[in-house]
Amino acid sequence: MQGSKVDDALEVLISSPIDALELTHSQHAELCNILEQIADSLPDEVEPPKCRQARDCLLWEVPLHHKDEEEGLFPLLEKRALPEDNIVEHLAQLSLEHATDESFADELSEHLEHLSNGEKPLNPNMLGYMLRGFFESYRRHLHWENSVLLPLARKRLTPTDLKTLRDVMIDNRQT
Ligand SMILES: [Fe+2]
Ligand SMILES: [Fe+2]
Repeated sequence: MQGSKVDDALEVLISSPIDALELTHSQHAELCNILEQIADSLPDEVEPPKCRQARDCLLWEVPLHHKDEEEGLFPLLEKRALPEDNIVEHLAQLSLEHATDESFADELSEHLEHLSNGEKPLNPNMLGYMLRGFFESYRRHLHWENSVLLPLARKRLTPTDLKTLRDVMIDNRQT
């Protein structure tokens, strides 16, 4: 992210960590759109700067966001959720998806690195298939978190929890 965007994101984080998570989701939805454009542009119309942007986001911003959720949001929600919220097994499933998505993102980032250097893909069909597999499942993950997880967090987390979440997220950006 550029300087002013980092400042804006930090301002949102300080005023509301849940809004900051939601903002990151919209940035990651944009990442999915970029990955779709890259898949559509294979093999000859690829734009290297887009590949660089997607690669950086996959390598740095996606794992950071997962860390915010797994070290900050999920334990707090697990503590506050009521039995009828039925959220605990979903949190385990989301963590599993994070691990799968990160290993997939690692693999994709290597291909995107080559494309960002202007190299042609060795197997465009396979790369297109991999890109689509990633962004389709990541969009589902984002949609579920936006429609179920974050609304529940807004309902259940206390002001003290929100302060804890904000501190974890700030700490994740300093290490
Ligand atoms: Fe998320
Ligand atoms: Fe997530």
